[in-house]
Amino acid sequence: MSKNNKEREVTAGPVKGEFISPQELNDIEERTDALPPQEDFWKPPVRFGSVPVEKEPLGWDRRRGFRKLFPVVSLPTQVVERVSFGHPELEPNRLFWGDNLHVMRQLPSESIDLIYIDPPFFSGRQYNVIFGDQNELRSFSDIWEGGMPGYLIWLNARLYEMKRLLKKTGSIYVHCDWHASHYIKVEMDKIFGYGNFINEIVWCYETAGKSKKTFSRKHDVILLYSKTDDFYLDVSKSPMPRKRNKHMRVGVDENGREYEEKTDAKTRKVYRWYFDEGRLPFDYWTDIQFINWEAKERIGYPTQKPEPLVERIIKVSSNDEDVVADFFCGGGTSLAVAQKLKRKWIGCDQSRVAVALTADRISRLIEEEIGKIFSVPDFTVEHWGIYEADRLSKMPLDQFRAFILRAFGAVPDDSQTGIHGMKGAIPIYVGEPNQRSQVTAKEVEAFANAIRKTIRYQQDNLRDGIMLAWAFRPDAVQAAERLRDMEITDLNFVRLEQIRIDHPRFREHVAALSTDHADYANFLTFVQPPKVEVGWKRLATRSYIQADINKRTY
Ligand SMILES: C[S@@+](CC[C@H](N)C(=O)[O-])C[C@H]1O[C@@H](n2cnc3c(N)ncnc32)[C@H](O)[C@@H]1O
Repeated sequence: MSKNNKEREVTAGPVKGEFISPQELNDIEERTDALPPQEDFWKPPVRFGSVPVEKEPLGWDRRRGFRKLFPVVSLPTQVVERVSFGHPELEPNRLFWGDNLHVMRQLPSESIDLIYIDPPFFSGRQYNVIFGDQNELRSFSDIWEGGMPGYLIWLNARLYEMKRLLKKTGSIYVHCDWHASHYIKVEMDKIFGYGNFINEIVWCYETAGKSKKTFSRKHDVILLYSKTDDFYLDVSKSPMPRKRNKHMRVGVDENGREYEEKTDAKTRKVYRWYFDEGRLPFDYWTDIQFINWEAKERIGYPTQKPEPLVERIIKVSSNDEDVVADFFCGGGTSLAVAQKLKRKWIGCDQSRVAVALTADRISRLIEEEIGKIFSVPDFTVEHWGIYEADRLSKMPLDQFRAFILRAFGAVPDDSQTGIHGMKGAIPIYVGEPNQRSQVTAKEVEAFANAIRKTIRYQQDNLRDGIMLAWAFRPDAVQAAERLRDMEITDLNFVRLEQIRIDHPRFREHVAALSTDHADYANFLTFVQPPKVEVGWKRLATRSYIQADINKRTY
């Protein structure tokens, strides 16, 4: 572990107000009118006949939007770290470990100024993450069931959420390559609107392998869209180098600055351009190279992008203090650049290794450089869907109860003594945070009495209750059985169900969805802390490259 990791402060509970509530989550309907009018953009001049395109984005259902294929799962986040830089008064930046679709769905609408994403490219490759996390649940796979349509449906659901999250002045850059760029363009036209397409940026590079069989593929494509006409973009903030034009005169002025100039033949006016000012950038970028093996910024994450590339994007499409997000953050390139440029940021990746690397990269960056120049907010590392059991055990009681209730799909409700929440009409009891604690017979009796005092028990004859806890003592189980047995002889009975937090029964509301969604099967599981040894194959500061290059599979 790095020195910086050791210094990281750990807070137990969720940050207040960080996610929208389950109710709000349901209220954000996916409606067809949330998409731009589809056919209008595709009406070619009559003489060309009709163009065979779908009316809506792939995967969209007219009634339920993308929720039909990807049902909503509302779960809490678990803050596993708050990395402190001495300014607790500032709102922290946020780094999520989890599937970005579900994380995004719980973030508030119109809250982000700029999104850059570099999703899997549909490359058909398996990017084996090379660091030493024995517990890594998913490696970064770019192989898709259902081929191209399957990939596009998966991406569309996410692009749709990104559009919702963007502010009206916001914009999105989607980094892709020849594998899928043309298909993604068509889908983005449908989601963002053809009129909101701004640029197709071609990033040209010369490094890496060459081909004898084809023209060597030496460019990526970055699609730039806005949310509305009111977008922010100032390309003059990131000039390209000015190349010498052989038709112009060159010179050096009295301050030693080199320039080139020409005289207008008609007006005789002289126009001068300084080389150190560069020139307005084109839509093809040739001035940024791939990261080479020796580069200082290289951390060894497969598919890591160069910082100058993202720097141009962040400089031209955002300002100081704006919120920049990358929901496929990998090794955290865009977040590191956002941090350097004084932006606020949100990052997400479903690889625990990627999140650990990003956290480490940003901590070091701030401690070594940025923290000395300007004050930076803390950042939190938050898990969504897969939680660390040990950390839950250390949570303060009220936060633990709120967490467990939300995870169980219930809402906190302490209006009646002895009852902690409600799931529909059913009162819920939550045991102690400590994993070794066990619910006792006394607690069972007390909860049954609390239920008996409720209006529902008295008026509507509702006698059910649920107890959630890490474990139940044998006498507690017997006490619940006794209460239930009274149903035959005594009207005073109460039916108590006892559910262990780490039992599949606890995750039933997610499990119900997961029969159709294999990728939901891991949600709401509790794991032991990861063994992410970020420095495992560290060669030097900021260099995490693996020792054995031959083992690399990307
Ligand atoms: C091409 S890499 C990003 C590399 C990054 N731009 C960099 O410079 O390091 C794509 C990343 O997307 C992540 N990813 C794939 N599917 C995801 C999902 N559904 N939610 C969150 N992250 C995902 C992968 O784990 C991988 O780290």
